[in-house]
Amino acid sequence: MKAVIFDLDGVICFTDKLHYKAWKNIADEQGIYFDEKINDRLRGVSRMESLDIILEKADRAYSFDEKKEIAEKKNDIYVSLLDTMSEKDLDANVKVVLDTLRSRGTLLAIGSSSKNTKKILEKLGLRDFFDAVSDGTNITKSKPDPEVFLKAAEMLGIKPVEAVVVEDALSGIDAALAGGFECVGIGEAAMHPKVTYPLKDLADLPEIVLRKNADI
Ligand code: BG6
Ligand code: MG
Repeated sequence: MKAVIFDLDGVICFTDKLHYKAWKNIADEQGIYFDEKINDRLRGVSRMESLDIILEKADRAYSFDEKKEIAEKKNDIYVSLLDTMSEKDLDANVKVVLDTLRSRGTLLAIGSSSKNTKKILEKLGLRDFFDAVSDGTNITKSKPDPEVFLKAAEMLGIKPVEAVVVEDALSGIDAALAGGFECVGIGEAAMHPKVTYPLKDLADLPEIVLRKNADI
């Protein structure tokens, strides 16, 4: 296994909570019911598709222009929450996992649907850390489509079978499998019936990569 492709929100950082806060603000303003369970369905899904899921609970139809305006407002709130982030928000356990894999020569990439990926990496002090960053700015279809991971593999110059994808979202596991990748699931994604490696703790990831390489 030459490479590990990480999802960003909910794997490398806990921005999924900030997405929730921003969407909750919007939903409350529009008088639409929204809770953490609905928020789980937004993991890995693009901004506009997330809004469509939230609007399932609305009692009226929204025009395209209204949706565009709401999505922009949500992003403004989200970005102002991101502005409070710093290197201190990089979880120590995540950093150990990244450094361990890096020290063993594993290629490391990001595969995220977020258009804010580069901003978040900058905030966490990881701007130049990854060998490739594939994100919402270079894809036309978001997860469960495999495009974001296939682009990451292409940027790394490797085949999907040579990489493992790490995900917290069910849609991300579907995307990885559709692209021909093995996948590690944490959180809800560990419950996916087809996940290759369900994990309780991301700290176990280097061991999985090591064992997999010893088998080859
Ligand atoms: C994904 C998140 O990483 O990025 C989704 O899991 C989010 O919840 C998506 O909707 C798009 O993010 P952004 O930052 O482009 O609005
Ligand atoms: Mg995620």
